[in-house]
Amino acid sequence: MLSDSKVKLDNQDRTNKTVAVLGCGVIGRSWAKLFLTHGYTVKIWDPAPNLHDQLSIYFGDDLFQRMILSDSPEKAVSGAFFVQESGPENPLKKHALYQGIASTLDENCIVASSTSTIQPSVLQRDIAFADRVLVGHPFNPPHLLPLVEVIGGELTSLETVNKALAFYRSLNKTAIHLKTERPGHLANRLQAAVWREAVDAVATGQATVEDVDLAMKASLGPRWAVMGPFETFHLGGGEGGLEHFFDHLGGAFEALWDDAKRPNVTEKLKQEICQALIHSDTSINNNERIEAIYQKLSKVVQMTS
Ligand SMILES: NC(=O)c1ccc[n+]([C@@H]2O[C@H](COP(=O)([O-])OP(=O)(O)OC[C@H]3O[C@@H](n4cnc5c(N)ncnc54)[C@H](O)[C@@H]3O)[C@@H](O)[C@H]2O)c1
Repeated sequence: MLSDSKVKLDNQDRTNKTVAVLGCGVIGRSWAKLFLTHGYTVKIWDPAPNLHDQLSIYFGDDLFQRMILSDSPEKAVSGAFFVQESGPENPLKKHALYQGIASTLDENCIVASSTSTIQPSVLQRDIAFADRVLVGHPFNPPHLLPLVEVIGGELTSLETVNKALAFYRSLNKTAIHLKTERPGHLANRLQAAVWREAVDAVATGQATVEDVDLAMKASLGPRWAVMGPFETFHLGGGEGGLEHFFDHLGGAFEALWDDAKRPNVTEKLKQEICQALIHSDTSINNNERIEAIYQKLSKVVQMTS
């Protein structure tokens, strides 16, 4: 078996340019945009009644005309070499979907789930093509943010993992292989640690919601766009690098680690935080604002990649 870096898409994959997207909500449509802009034929299935209108607005004329809306998941996956499933976060629904497509799925087709919380070993249980099921977890929006976390389950073949990594990398994604299944995968666990402290700062009255967001945007945000946490502290260690950092400040940071059973997210606390954001202009319905945010994100990604 080839190592991650050596594997390439095989001949069939290079000639077959059809990708299926099952579930075309927030994440599915962004994946579809990415696949379309890389020249793939994209077949979509989503049971939402007003899908046609929603997607024509989201994609605009040019891209919309190039995609194929299928009237069943079985038809959508037929002829595809890769399926990106982005349906509701419910293992029973995803499972039923996988069982339904088994009869029309091409022999070598890979099925990647965007799931943020479900383990691949759960998804592939009792599925005929279990060795070709894995998680390909993006960050929202997948057409802009580079990371894809690739995670195989107990029954996923290494070949499937390597082909998925190669496919995502061919789309200029930063695809990393997580070697174990853990709740929240990796990046969301990092995010959860920050989210805990953000909510706790408000809960304990240390800072306002606005100031927590400002603190992040004015410090860790830009720094982390350029360097990861290890690189950051390697730089912070001066001449001695990370080793000096461990000796000098490592203990102080460890003293901040605790059992993490805080804060207690009460209804009152939730309301306090939500009220502080009620006038925020980042509502998903504010198309102009979302577009402006996407443009900024896009610039940051370009600058840092
Ligand atoms: N929203 C995020 O930030 C985010 C980030 C990364 C990964 N994910 C993952 O992506 C997946 C989709 O999340 P989302 O935020 O796009 O949800 P969403 O609610 O925006 O979209 C889900 C879509 O699935 C459709 N759907 C309903 N029943 C279905 C079925 N049986 N089969 C297929 N599709 C069906 C719905 O009509 C809807 O359009 C989830 O697994 C989630 O964990 C979400």
